[in-house]
Amino acid sequence: MNQIKVFCPGSVANVSCGFDVLGFCLEPVGDIMSVTKTVTPGVTIGTISGQDLPKDPEKNVASVAVKSLLEAHPSEYGFRIDIEKKIKPGSGIGSSAASAAGAVFAVNELIGRPYSRNELIQFAMAGETLASGAAHADNLAPVLLGGFTLVRSNKSLDIIKLPSPPKLVATVIHPKIELKTIHSRAILKNTIPLEKAVQQWGNLGAFISALYTNDYELLSRSMKDKVIEPYRAMLIPRFEEVKASAIQAGALGSGISGSGPSIFALSKSNEIAEQVGNAMKKQFDDLGLEYDVYISNINNEGIKILH
Ligand code: HSE
Repeated sequence: MNQIKVFCPGSVANVSCGFDVLGFCLEPVGDIMSVTKTVTPGVTIGTISGQDLPKDPEKNVASVAVKSLLEAHPSEYGFRIDIEKKIKPGSGIGSSAASAAGAVFAVNELIGRPYSRNELIQFAMAGETLASGAAHADNLAPVLLGGFTLVRSNKSLDIIKLPSPPKLVATVIHPKIELKTIHSRAILKNTIPLEKAVQQWGNLGAFISALYTNDYELLSRSMKDKVIEPYRAMLIPRFEEVKASAIQAGALGSGISGSGPSIFALSKSNEIAEQVGNAMKKQFDDLGLEYDVYISNINNEGIKILH
């Protein structure tokens, strides 16, 4: 095999109660990446369509991630990466993770698949760290493994794939403003009061239990963020109103997708997820703010080979 084309899906990180550890994979939105073996060793970026991103292999998250893979597993070949970038950087739906994970996944296939999907996360982290200035795998894990994932440790990359309750449908609204993760991390405090920490780990534990037991009511009660959302909410126009309108339209819960500005909601059916999307849209329509809306099943497969 000399060439491979893969679909690299978007993802929602944090999911309210799991800052830097919880995430799930989206279905309808993602990048398309083609990787071609070259005779000359090294990693190059070929074409990039859709977004203006660096072609310098030292500055592009896809090539940086592949370089990290090739350091651990040298190849006599080189690799050219062509990217159809559909996920806007700074959108909060895992743009850099899709590129980094897609590139290492594709190269791994071209070199005979020496690593499992879980093992590839360590290499994709190099790209994610370049993009956000911090090593967190909560977008990479769902992109590579599919479904919901939990990162027990971002250091040792102890990552667990979680079950997805069958009725869950996500709504994601992306207001067309750019919010770089590096900036929305910079406003966070380094310490949290014990009382808030207790609430947060109570919610995270309960959320994970709800995934295993298909307990939608428990899941709904657990989708709370007392630690991060209060700081980041102010970066997103009408965040509180959008969230409230999603819940009023029937969502189980709603919060900031990753580091924003996208806002996500989880609902118990496709029909409710559509209604939630319409309610969210109305808030941004009133502001005259442009947006994209995605209604998505939980993508249990993750990255997939197109050909
Ligand atoms: N957990 C990360 C954050 C996700 O919230 O900063 C964004 O990449």
